[in-house]
Amino acid sequence: MTETTTHPAGPAEDTALNIRPILHYTAKNTWLNDPNGLVWHRGVYHLFYQNNPFDNVWGNMSWGHATSTDLLHWTEHPVAIACDEEEDVFSGSIVVDHDNTSGFGTVEDPALVAIYTSAFKEGSVHQGTQAQSLAFSTDAGMTWSKYAGNPVLGRGSAHFRDPKVFSYEGPAGSCWVMVAVEAQHQQVVLYRSANLKDWEYLSTFGPANATGGEWECPDLFPLPVDGDPDSVKWVLVVNINPGAVAGGSGGQYFVGDFDGVQFTADFDSLVPADADGTTDLRHCLWLDWGRDYYAAVSFSNAPENRRIMIGWMNNWDYANSLPTSPWRSEMSLAREVELATVDGLPRLVQRPVLPLDCGEPARTIQDVELHDSLLQLPDATPGSAQLIEAEILPGTARTVAFRLLGASGGTAATVLSFDAVTSRLTLDRRNSGNTAFHGKFASAESAPVKLDGGVLRLRVIVDHCSVEVFAQGGRVVLSDLVFPVSGNLGTEVCVEGGTAIVRKLAVTALS
Ligand code: FRU
Repeated sequence: MTETTTHPAGPAEDTALNIRPILHYTAKNTWLNDPNGLVWHRGVYHLFYQNNPFDNVWGNMSWGHATSTDLLHWTEHPVAIACDEEEDVFSGSIVVDHDNTSGFGTVEDPALVAIYTSAFKEGSVHQGTQAQSLAFSTDAGMTWSKYAGNPVLGRGSAHFRDPKVFSYEGPAGSCWVMVAVEAQHQQVVLYRSANLKDWEYLSTFGPANATGGEWECPDLFPLPVDGDPDSVKWVLVVNINPGAVAGGSGGQYFVGDFDGVQFTADFDSLVPADADGTTDLRHCLWLDWGRDYYAAVSFSNAPENRRIMIGWMNNWDYANSLPTSPWRSEMSLAREVELATVDGLPRLVQRPVLPLDCGEPARTIQDVELHDSLLQLPDATPGSAQLIEAEILPGTARTVAFRLLGASGGTAATVLSFDAVTSRLTLDRRNSGNTAFHGKFASAESAPVKLDGGVLRLRVIVDHCSVEVFAQGGRVVLSDLVFPVSGNLGTEVCVEGGTAIVRKLAVTALS
């Protein structure tokens, strides 16, 4: 959290309300950042999050709380774990203590246990340090008590934070494992425990790959490769700020193995430093190539072993200045992640969680040839998110571009374009509307995209002030916030420099 400028809310209240997303979680009238304590329990997804209960800029860090049964409709609840005169309550995770190892619940009625970072304040006996603490809930996550024996794990460090705890069973036995960070050393530190209260050091991973900022909010989980239970790899997620590929905050990951003690990254997910000691960020593995997907972590205890992640849709470069009021900041859509073999290597593929029945598309196009031409698509609808699904053969065209949230007859739009010469997909928000509220906001992000048998596959979700792009079945993701001028809702696809074939294109309003 590096940006501290506070701007008054930009546009008038009614404009801000118009751009409040409908599928993405926002707190009603306060600030939020990182998702915390993502857990599924008794049929309910709980989203806790870094929240300032008193304002819409960062501060007074506490855990806000929302619940959902489908990851799309969220209900906000009172603050779950509040800051006090001793500590701010920074990021962390929640486990369901099925075996009552902590003694906070019973086996019949297990407690939820939150492991969070106490960022100790001046005047506390622990002042100047960050350490890990516990809180527990015996009413399925609705009310929380801080543990009297806090903190349970410190290192005398001022930057030891963001514990993600999971239950491990494997060659090293059964235990709780914690991954946390020594943020300024670009290290993930691992610990184990039998009861969540007493922790034993295991190992350290890093620095590696992107190291140009603080390492924050790690996660570690196993996934079968191509769904094969006999071929399991471990994924270590490490968020970094600043120093991500698109600038500022972002999430990188490593694929490797975890033996209960140590995470070892596969050789091919490590990027050797160049001769001058720098790392080419384009060769690291990124969860998202856009500007606005940070602090992403996965749900504990999700049903059917699904691995579902949510990120904070924002970037510390300008987070406190977003032109919305009274709310500020949103979560990404939930994403189901899997490991698939891509060019011979296990890589994450991501799929947004969307309504099971998205309804009839407002327009469907099939097998249309576009030669240096433009096709008008249905406008985005206020009060609905827009889903665009496309399969396009760029053919001889130089570029295939979608102009989103555009002005009719004008030039303003968010432009998503595929350049067939460079084989890169770019999301350009430089002319998307209100970009002036912060000097670092106007930007264009791009990612390498390989066509599948000549086909570009896109799934784009536009939700008032955000664009999330899942390309090639989720092998490449680009997410950006945008603040279009009120009333700019136009959508078109435009082909330049040759002929492209639109094999399939469907535009659906999700309300
Ligand atoms: C990441 C982060 C975490 C910290 C929290 C504080 O965005 O900086 O490292 O726990 O936010 O709000």
